[in-house]
Amino acid sequence: MELLPLVCLCLLSCSGDAVRVVVEQDSDAVLPCLISTKENITGKLFDWKKDGQKEVFMYDAGIHYNNGRTGQDEQFKGRVSHFQDQLKNGNASIKITRTKMADSGNYSCDFPRHQPSQPFIIELVVGAAPEPYIKILAETKHWRLLQCEAHGDPLPTVEWKDSDNNTLPAEKPHISERGGRSYVTVKITVTKTDNYSCVATQETLSHQVAANTSVLLAGE
Ligand SMILES: *[C@@H]1O[C@H](CO)[C@@H](O)[C@H](O)[C@H]1NC(C)=O
Ligand SMILES: *[C@@H]1O[C@H](CO)[C@@H](O)[C@H](O)[C@H]1NC(C)=O
Ligand SMILES: *[C@@H]1O[C@H](CO)[C@@H](O)[C@H](O)[C@H]1NC(C)=O
Ligand SMILES: *[C@@H]1O[C@H](CO)[C@@H](O)[C@H](O)[C@H]1NC(C)=O
Ligand SMILES: *[C@@H]1O[C@H](CO)[C@@H](O)[C@H](O)[C@H]1NC(C)=O
Ligand SMILES: *[C@@H]1O[C@H](CO)[C@@H](O)[C@H](O)[C@H]1NC(C)=O
Repeated sequence: MELLPLVCLCLLSCSGDAVRVVVEQDSDAVLPCLISTKENITGKLFDWKKDGQKEVFMYDAGIHYNNGRTGQDEQFKGRVSHFQDQLKNGNASIKITRTKMADSGNYSCDFPRHQPSQPFIIELVVGAAPEPYIKILAETKHWRLLQCEAHGDPLPTVEWKDSDNNTLPAEKPHISERGGRSYVTVKITVTKTDNYSCVATQETLSHQVAANTSVLLAGE
């Protein structure tokens, strides 16, 4: 029996000139930002805002929201940090932990005292599907009943494929709620020895993730 663990998956892609970061809910997101001159910014000011208004993270010569500065938006309290050892390289990236759906949006990273001041825009999308979970429900010498479970927001479409990448006829997807989340499960009965994969796709996020299972049927 093969039980695949859920893994956190972050991916970076570019849409136009904005960088897009797609992460799972309840994971960590690193939003990249690098000053064009790559100069030491340890003694400088940088400011991260969400959707042009919410204060996410402000750093001014060592003073920031995690060591006494006030003004951070309630939504981000205790969840945002910078990378102190990276400041000398001009790297003003931040990490947001325990991401929520409400964190999705456009973030700007600005060096307001630096000329020319051109904020970097990073689009954060929370809700990526983690690796699906494959479970064996029943088996005989001649067949095996497999179930694949996936979640994410938007709910992914789920397909079963064989090792030749053919989409296999499976049962109708079943949607259920658990702990305030929607899950989609798709069952399939396989009758051949092969490596099968369950593929979860979120078209709107250009996100796809798969889990594999190897089936050896002694009765063949
Ligand atoms: C970076 O700047 C800080 C403060 O301005 C200074 O203390 C530090 O030595 C500098 N680091 C490097 C590697 O230049
Ligand atoms: C900036 O720092 C982050 C966190 O350490 C790192 O992941 C990223 O690669 C750095 N970016 C650059 C351009 O060095
Ligand atoms: C970011 O901004 C773009 C352009 O204004 C918009 O289409 C997109 O929906 C925004 N992203 C999020 C996650 O709100
Ligand atoms: C598998 O098929 C899909 C279309 O069904 C295609 O988009 C994808 O690139 C194929 N993958 C491989 C590894 O051939
Ligand atoms: C299944 O994958 C394993 C490696 O993970 C490979 O050794 C084996 O040949 C594959 N079997 C089939 C039927 O594709
Ligand atoms: C599953 O198999 C596909 C194709 O063989 C491979 O690209 C993918 O990395 C595998 N996924 C995992 C989680 O092993």
